[in-house]
Amino acid sequence: MFFSLQGKVAIVTGGASGIGLAIARRLAAAGARVAIADRNDAAPVAAEIGGMALRVDVAVEDQVAALVATVVERLGAPDILVNNAAIQPLGVGFDDLTPALVERAFAVNVHGVAYGIKHAARAMRDGGRILNTASFIGLIGAPRAAVYGPTRAAVVQQTRLAAMELAPRAITVNCVCPGTVATPAVTGIPDNPEIPFLEKMTPLGRLAQPDEVAAVFHFLASPEAAYLTGAVIPVDGGITAGWREHDVIAPPQVREGRWVE
Ligand SMILES: NC(=O)c1ccc[n+]([C@@H]2O[C@H](COP(=O)([O-])OP(=O)(O)OC[C@H]3O[C@@H](n4cnc5c(N)ncnc54)[C@H](O)[C@@H]3O)[C@@H](O)[C@H]2O)c1
Repeated sequence: MFFSLQGKVAIVTGGASGIGLAIARRLAAAGARVAIADRNDAAPVAAEIGGMALRVDVAVEDQVAALVATVVERLGAPDILVNNAAIQPLGVGFDDLTPALVERAFAVNVHGVAYGIKHAARAMRDGGRILNTASFIGLIGAPRAAVYGPTRAAVVQQTRLAAMELAPRAITVNCVCPGTVATPAVTGIPDNPEIPFLEKMTPLGRLAQPDEVAAVFHFLASPEAAYLTGAVIPVDGGITAGWREHDVIAPPQVREGRWVE
């Protein structure tokens, strides 16, 4: 079977909801034994996919170290780590920043990724896979993303740096930058004005479904992706390529077959 993960052990952080949940389901369907690490209860998901649920706050290094140790003990050395857990404080401009918000966002979204890389890489066999979830807002500007955007940009750079460091062990490190995805973080906001705006701006004209993002993680986790490392892959309906096609009227000299040199 192509892209088989039979016999692999995977850890997915933030796997109780949204994109992480879709990734956990995909990896399990491809044959992996999946540990779902979340600050919320992931037991129902674990029961559904035949995986294991572990409560963890990825911002706390000791908890991440304990997570990896538990997985090693109960499932074996991890082959795949997906650093996906994050908080998404959007609508926050520079004027809104407080130390508590900045510190928590970086603790979860950036330090959590660093701890995951550190402890999983130590426990992992050579040839493993580390996959990070960043965001299109780590690649281009978006309004009022004064703390979330920088945390996602940091993950892009963590991906490259870890890829360099772990290449001698053939551990690949890649990151996916989703566009706007129909997850509770987005659809759970009543009358979220971001949704119609992004549908209008995104070249493909719609939000992503979580599984469309998870499919790329599945490929990156697979043996077939062995030569891909340090890559930053937008799965964003084209929004980092440019905004959606709309009626731009050609100037008269073009329409009339003339052009001014
Ligand atoms: N939804 C989008 O439009 C979108 C777009 C681009 C990038 N992303 C990224 O995708 C990832 C997942 O987002 P989502 O939309 O699926 O979010 P979500 O809120 O549906 O799920 C996030 C999960 O992470 C868990 N989590 C949060 N903080 C945690 C912590 N400290 N420790 C452990 N678990 C924690 C939550 O409990 C939740 O289960 C994030 O990295 C986010 O930045 C999302």
